[in-house]
Amino acid sequence: IVKVNVCCSCLINLCFFFQITHYKQYPPNVSKIYSYFECRRKKGSQFSEVVFFGLQYLLKKYLTGPVITEEKIQEAKLFYQMHFKQAVFDEEGWRKVLEKHDGRLPIRIKAVPEGRIIPRGNVLFTVENTDPSFYWLTNYIETMLVQMWYPITVATVSREFKKILARHLKATSGSLEGLDLKLHDFGYRGVSSQESAALGGAAHLVNFCSTDTVAGLLMAQRYYSCPMAGFSIPAAEHSTIISWGRTREKEAFERVLDQFSSGPVSVVSDSYDIFNACKHIWGDKLKERVMERSQDSCLVIRPDSGDPAETLIEVIKILEECFGCSLNAMGFKVLPSYLRIIQGDGIDLTSKLSDEGWSAENIFFGCGSALLQKLNRDTLSCAFKCSYVETNGKGMDVYKQPVTDPSKGSKRGRLSLRRNSDGFIETVERGAGKPEEDLLVTVFENGSLMHEYSLEEIRKNARLRDDEMDHTPHNQEAELLHNHIINGLH
Ligand SMILES: *[C@@H]1O[C@H](CO)[C@@H](O)[C@H](O)[C@H]1NC(C)=O
Ligand SMILES: *[C@@H]1O[C@H](CO)[C@@H](O)[C@H](O)[C@H]1NC(C)=O
Repeated sequence: IVKVNVCCSCLINLCFFFQITHYKQYPPNVSKIYSYFECRRKKGSQFSEVVFFGLQYLLKKYLTGPVITEEKIQEAKLFYQMHFKQAVFDEEGWRKVLEKHDGRLPIRIKAVPEGRIIPRGNVLFTVENTDPSFYWLTNYIETMLVQMWYPITVATVSREFKKILARHLKATSGSLEGLDLKLHDFGYRGVSSQESAALGGAAHLVNFCSTDTVAGLLMAQRYYSCPMAGFSIPAAEHSTIISWGRTREKEAFERVLDQFSSGPVSVVSDSYDIFNACKHIWGDKLKERVMERSQDSCLVIRPDSGDPAETLIEVIKILEECFGCSLNAMGFKVLPSYLRIIQGDGIDLTSKLSDEGWSAENIFFGCGSALLQKLNRDTLSCAFKCSYVETNGKGMDVYKQPVTDPSKGSKRGRLSLRRNSDGFIETVERGAGKPEEDLLVTVFENGSLMHEYSLEEIRKNARLRDDEMDHTPHNQEAELLHNHIINGLH
């Protein structure tokens, strides 16, 4: 019995098996393979630009330093011998990486600064070998690098949500106060793994500071130098309420108020009858207790079932009857500052609320798997393609252009990214770009991280532009986004 120790930090084993046999397939005397990653443009897509985020994590975790050792080579050799049932693993090639480069990857990666907003259809990063003997490495690490689709897509979706919330908040309250806390990440339990939670959770934190996905906070701390990137509040869940029994929901609520007398607290109130809970428990039996609270320690009521629009409107009306409300400077209704509502997966409700005269100030939103899991590599059409090769010292621009799908055509030659004289970001192909204009930054070379970004810097790069917040919100756009994301119709 052969014991194979597949350690997760083993770069060689991490790679997709079909790249394993590629080194045998390139033309003879190839000395450079140059590839790039983009989110292809797609007609009719809800997303016209993307937030670049997550590469630094992959580089730090998997690619920096000496990543090849003799032990890993032996491990991988055995592994692929068993997998392919023939000797296709390039043992000699990897040993050369070890001998010539100390086990460090002779690769250069140039990338858009993290957090930058880039229109789809542009290069986001390029990968090339720096030593002609290791042309095969470029696409060897493709599988891992293409997984960049995930943090990019989460950061992009989260930012689209932020645009909608910003417009509504501005239109119904006259300010953007509290925007960073408006969308809470509830997605931890709905993602496939800890690493997805870490990457997706951190990607949401590029745009917001509100999360329960602790893995994302840890990632921001370890890989993006941010000591504490997000916040949460104590919250009741169904088990803590129903464990008191059906007849003692009031006691359950009261207990929460007692235990968390200062600071905001969220209480899920739909265990039996959300309308009864709002009207007779919060709005009557515990009314004084609720009114004692301040803005800094407000009660956040959470409906968690039923048709979101109908339930939310009904709940807010009941609370208005019981606690009253005031008009803000924009003429929209606001509940007393000790009382708020948190609504899951209902960004599209902002427009219904404002139609009924309610300010977006009243509601926090939560988002779970719609934010972290209901997306895939096609949501933003992410692709990694070879665009340039050198053979016998001669360069050649290469590309694909499938007759069956022109939208899958790829870019040609060495690429750079620039802001043109009209202010638009564009990719310059065929090596024609001026280095001084290039927005791509060398972030990795020969095993070393060459440039490091902090979450703070990334958040600045990803800030909403004035023009993204200013125009009056259309009901339709929030609904479209809702359909695309919440209902998964990409
Ligand atoms: C590869 O390079 C060698 C040495 O430069 C040369 O002799 C040979 O003709 C080249 N082969 C091809 C197919 O270009
Ligand atoms: C990386 O290695 C290549 C050759 O292997 C060398 O030409 C280049 O200068 C190195 N880059 C750095 C930053 O050390």
